[in-house]
Amino acid sequence: MQRQRNSRWLIASVTLASISLCTNSFAASDEKLLNMCKACHGQTGHNPFPSIPNLAQQNSQYMVEQLTAFKNGQRQDKTMSKVAKLLTTEQMQQMAHYFSKGKD
Ligand code: HEC
Repeated sequence: MQRQRNSRWLIASVTLASISLCTNSFAASDEKLLNMCKACHGQTGHNPFPSIPNLAQQNSQYMVEQLTAFKNGQRQDKTMSKVAKLLTTEQMQQMAHYFSKGKD
């Protein structure tokens, strides 16, 4: 009995913690963009698709460089070239930071 109550409390507090983490670091418009990234790359950057790279725990500076390269045409991909053009440098940094912390 007691144990069950404790684990429920734990789940609730973990859920709350992750919600507040998201809302603290992202404005509403950025949140929409981030949701788009998550649709392909996965909630934490881990994803089951063989053609989509995992971003979780990748170096954030590397990710910003890759996004910049997609945006300026140095690196080409039919999806990411379009996606990166929607991002400001600041948004790239925020998203790279978010995924660099990603855990499963
Ligand atoms: C429609 C699916 C899709 C969406 C949406 C998407 N990506 Fe990607 N992303 C990919 C694919 C596919 C690649 C691999 C491209 C290649 O092979 O060059 C990639 C590559 C990347 C890379 C380079 C990874 C590496 O290891 O070099 C980064 C960083 C990245 N995406 C970040 C993002 C961010 C941030 C967003 C949201 C703003 C986003 N992606 C949205 C599909 C997607």
